Amino acid sequence: MDPKDIIDGIKDKIGDMFYVGPKGVIGIDIGLSAIKLAEVIQVSDGNFKINRYATVALPEGTIIEDEIQKEDEILQALQEGIKELNSGNKFACIGVSGPNTLIKRLQLAGGTNEEIEDQVTWETEQYLPFPIDEGNISFSVVGENQGGGVDVIIGAVKKTVLESFRDLVERSNLKVKIVDLNAAATLNVFETVMGAEVSAKGKTWILMDLGAQKTQFMIYKSGVMVFFKEINIGGLTITEEIQRQMGVNYAEAESLKISGDGSGNIPEEIVDLINQVLDTFFAELKKTVDFWVNSTSEEAFDGCVLTGGSSLIPGLPEALQELFETEVQILNPFTTMSYNQNNISEDMINDIAFKGVCAIGLAMRSIPK
Ligand SMILES: Nc1ncnc2c1ncn2[C@@H]1O[C@H](COP(=O)(O)OP(=O)(O)OP(=O)(O)O)[C@@H](O)[C@H]1O
Ligand SMILES: [Mg+2]
Repeated sequence: MDPKDIIDGIKDKIGDMFYVGPKGVIGIDIGLSAIKLAEVIQVSDGNFKINRYATVALPEGTIIEDEIQKEDEILQALQEGIKELNSGNKFACIGVSGPNTLIKRLQLAGGTNEEIEDQVTWETEQYLPFPIDEGNISFSVVGENQGGGVDVIIGAVKKTVLESFRDLVERSNLKVKIVDLNAAATLNVFETVMGAEVSAKGKTWILMDLGAQKTQFMIYKSGVMVFFKEINIGGLTITEEIQRQMGVNYAEAESLKISGDGSGNIPEEIVDLINQVLDTFFAELKKTVDFWVNSTSEEAFDGCVLTGGSSLIPGLPEALQELFETEVQILNPFTTMSYNQNNISEDMINDIAFKGVCAIGLAMRSIPK
């Protein structure tokens, strides 16, 4: 065995022993294209190591937005993923997203805890797409605002959505300890990896998760998420367009989009289709940014960070750079996080870097910062 591996192994054990409180959780991100599972350990203060990771592709159409369509297929993939992860940990943190969830910064008048809770309830009610008593709401105070009140971030999910995902995971013999919003998990990794560069006072960053069914768009200012929007355009929009226009099935269209003709060339007609979808996507992004700029009279961004499988679309980071007039980079968890080479093979690294961020953030959830 390589001495470095032995040292890594020992570090893992020490990390585990020093860790008091609830033993970590397995982060589970059930995305449209795949289920991703991650186990993360804290090796020293503020330093994290990805200990285990697994991903299992989901067949077409298992989820539509936040509704489970093909339960058996997801359950099977989940069980496969848990087996592949091969962790002794039985606790999970699952992520939710979609139209029946809400993550929002609110500026409240403040006061006693009870008064703040009342304000949260009253304000949240106005943004929820379902009656408040049908949801699970949580919030955390993130700072003070100019008016002498408090800024809070609220998270909410409709109970039926939460329960449907929790039941699936519990049927796979894991205990769901925490349910978190996918966006909050992604944000957690963004903050941990990018550190002071993005959190500095007065700095404004864009963070985007470019997934399959949706894009999560966030603006992060002076260390707080100040704006969030879920846009219903993602990699699937392109895949479906290829299916429709080229008369091929889902798997064939995915393969044409990602690998092209087999020798790495994306045919001209596919590039045209991708660009058509991107035009609509960019128009939507421009509208979103303009809305924010107009309502805050903010002018410029200090940078933009991307994650999610669709950030692999050739030329996309460069095009976004032009659109946002700021430098665009990929959120690479490995810039600050190490990984366990005994459990994670080299060929997984790229997959984790682009598609695993949310699961990593979910896995970090019970680790105190
Ligand atoms: N090399 C590539 N080029 C273009 N698109 C890619 C590439 N690799 C992956 N994708 C696309 O990325 C998407 C999958 O990314 P990701 O795993 O982040 O999404 P997801 O989490 O399953 O979706 P969602 O978060 O929307 O539920 C798919 O649409 C896939 O086609
Ligand atoms: Mg995703």
